[in-house]
Amino acid sequence: MTHTSSTDQIPASPGIPRHVAIIMDGNGRWASARHMPRVAGHSKGVDAVRATVQACVDQGVEFLTLFAFSSENWRRPADEVSLLMRLFIMVLEREVTQMRANGIRLRVVGDTSAFEPALRKLIDESQARTASNHKMTLTICANYGGRWDVLQATRAMLDARPDLAEAGAPITEADLAPYLAMSFAPEPDLFIRTGGEQRISNFLLWQLAYTELYFTDAFWPDFGAVELDKAFDSYRVRERRFGRTSAQVAVPIITPEH
Ligand code: FPP
Repeated sequence: MTHTSSTDQIPASPGIPRHVAIIMDGNGRWASARHMPRVAGHSKGVDAVRATVQACVDQGVEFLTLFAFSSENWRRPADEVSLLMRLFIMVLEREVTQMRANGIRLRVVGDTSAFEPALRKLIDESQARTASNHKMTLTICANYGGRWDVLQATRAMLDARPDLAEAGAPITEADLAPYLAMSFAPEPDLFIRTGGEQRISNFLLWQLAYTELYFTDAFWPDFGAVELDKAFDSYRVRERRFGRTSAQVAVPIITPEH
């Protein structure tokens, strides 16, 4: 399926975001505030994932994308990395049956070649078992980085289209877009980051071009239906101009012809 590019055409902006992308931050601080080990925060974070997935399905969100493990998270202490991997395996083993029942299609994007073979196999099986579901696509970004994505897409594009490597070749967005890891989804309408920090941290750099950004101090383990509603309330009153003026936004969308 091809989707509108926000820099090429003006996408429709319904009241509920079609695609929500979340950086789940604050697990460690949630745990520290309770004198618990950081890993307890990650375990509790899995409950928040479950609650948020359900809330998004209930609200009619079509795509939910979660940043579970960044290319840079390998820098964490080895025991924390290993716990995060085990949690990932546990989520896939335990939740896929429920995802099938709820009509959720699971996708995992990122450089999964760095994962152990058993996890890679589980990822492949989980994606295959949910491939025909249509209610909502849940994407887990694992060993993902926005810069990695643009580079891997560029390499894949040039492998497929060596003519584009020639000097002066007229490369367009549309040439690159099919090779980006999230090519199956529209660009996110709403980006949420929990945990009080206000940065993108190498998440979906290409895809966030015109996404509305929402930051909350709530730690990820405290996130769920109530916090999601607050984010949606904020989103609903945003004026999405996609480069136009306010006066232009007031008249119906006219998609430019190319
Ligand atoms: C950021 O909190 C969170 C992570 C790096 C991992 C997120 C993982 C989960 C919520 C559990 C696994 C989920 C899935 C979908 C498999 P932080 O540790 O950076 O918190 P801090 O900033 O308070 O230290």
